[in-house]
Amino acid sequence: MDKFVIRGGNPLVGTVRVSGAKNSALPCMAAAILTEEEITLENIPQVRDIDTERKLLASMGAEVDFGTVSSQHRTTISCRTLSDPVAKYEIVKTMRASSLVLGPLLARTGMARVAMPGGCAIGGRPIDLHIKGLEKMGATIIQEHGYLEARASRLKGAHLVFDKITVTGTEDLLMAAVLADGETVMENCAREPEVTDLAALLTAMGANIEGAGTSTIRVQGVSSLHRATYRINPDRIEAGTYLIAGAITRGDLTVAYCNPDHLRAVIAKLEEAGVRIDIPAADAVRVRPGNGLFATDISTEEYPGFPTDMQAQYMALATQAEGVSLIKENIFENRFMHVQELVRMGANIKVDGRTATVRGPAKLSAAAVMCSDLRASASLVLAALVADGESILDRVYHMDRGYERIEEKLRSVGAEIQRMGNVFAPRVPAAVAD
Ligand code: UD1
Repeated sequence: MDKFVIRGGNPLVGTVRVSGAKNSALPCMAAAILTEEEITLENIPQVRDIDTERKLLASMGAEVDFGTVSSQHRTTISCRTLSDPVAKYEIVKTMRASSLVLGPLLARTGMARVAMPGGCAIGGRPIDLHIKGLEKMGATIIQEHGYLEARASRLKGAHLVFDKITVTGTEDLLMAAVLADGETVMENCAREPEVTDLAALLTAMGANIEGAGTSTIRVQGVSSLHRATYRINPDRIEAGTYLIAGAITRGDLTVAYCNPDHLRAVIAKLEEAGVRIDIPAADAVRVRPGNGLFATDISTEEYPGFPTDMQAQYMALATQAEGVSLIKENIFENRFMHVQELVRMGANIKVDGRTATVRGPAKLSAAAVMCSDLRASASLVLAALVADGESILDRVYHMDRGYERIEEKLRSVGAEIQRMGNVFAPRVPAAVAD
């Protein structure tokens, strides 16, 4: 298993380039199920979750272009035949977003068998809202042997109101609705840019969608969809992680090929904390030290609020800020796995329910730490960048799920970071297994 060895202390200086958004690419790849024609996606990040999704689609009978080493940021998927519309547990257990194939499989083939995702490190990850919506659209869904088996000769448009805002739930039902008979109105939808990305691809495929990016989405079902080529938007979470890397190391870092508009909540908090932020171009954000780094409270919310996927990284920064920061996690019940590891590095953090109290600044000292999930890993990398000495981060496969060659990107702007062990090679299926 790969490890990162990080020697802290260097300010990050220069320009770092952001990859395409993993959380947009995943539903967009699932959308290929909806048509017999070819879907080409550009700016696909070269990360492990994407490779898992390629495997998942291929296991169902899709023709998936795994790309050459130089063209892995582009993928072509053809779901002309879907001989086996099943998402197997072996794949679903490594990537819960696999449940995104439920809606499109049902819409396209009239049946789907998808393994139940179960819990994960950050808490229960139910898909009851996906099921409820599909049932309202006329599907019959039974659960047995750890699988959901869904059937519907043709889904019917319906009026759906989400009890709770769910990103992949909105995406899954949107994909089901585009081929349903008649109009579907979805209320209390997620407004994340990834939903908008998916809707843009579906529209390019011939779907009729209004209101994506707002809480009410209206879809007029069509009988079939066609080929399209679509470029995935930049990853706002990767971009936010690099902004914090610049801020925590007191560097002068430009985060390029990002969309500053998608980063508003993160930028606002960094400015409140005293970090100097400039937008030197429409697709770049520059971060520099201001007159100090001060504690600020954050509370995770659905978009456009502060993202839960940035909470762990922000906590690393809070350990270096002057004063007391209260960090409230509202989206997931157990998303403080990074706290114990940060404490082992010298951070002063107390957790009470869904709130972490961070007292800073703390002098962090290098340690051997364990990555527990994707964003927790990112927070440990950030802490290690300012810790005194050499930290060793174990289980960086969590990091490889969502950050494309982070060690190379950070090294190019001055970080001392090395990968030890088998270098991650996402194109080789054997390297994908957990
Ligand atoms: C997506 C993102 C993930 C991000 C999260 C919240 C992808 C692939 N992943 O995950 O990175 O952290 O949004 O921004 O896009 N819930 C239910 N029932 C459901 C579905 C969700 O109760 O059927 C609950 C969840 O337990 C959670 C909340 O709703 O408490 C939000 O979850 P959701 O938005 O669905 O997260 P994901 O889409 O899985």
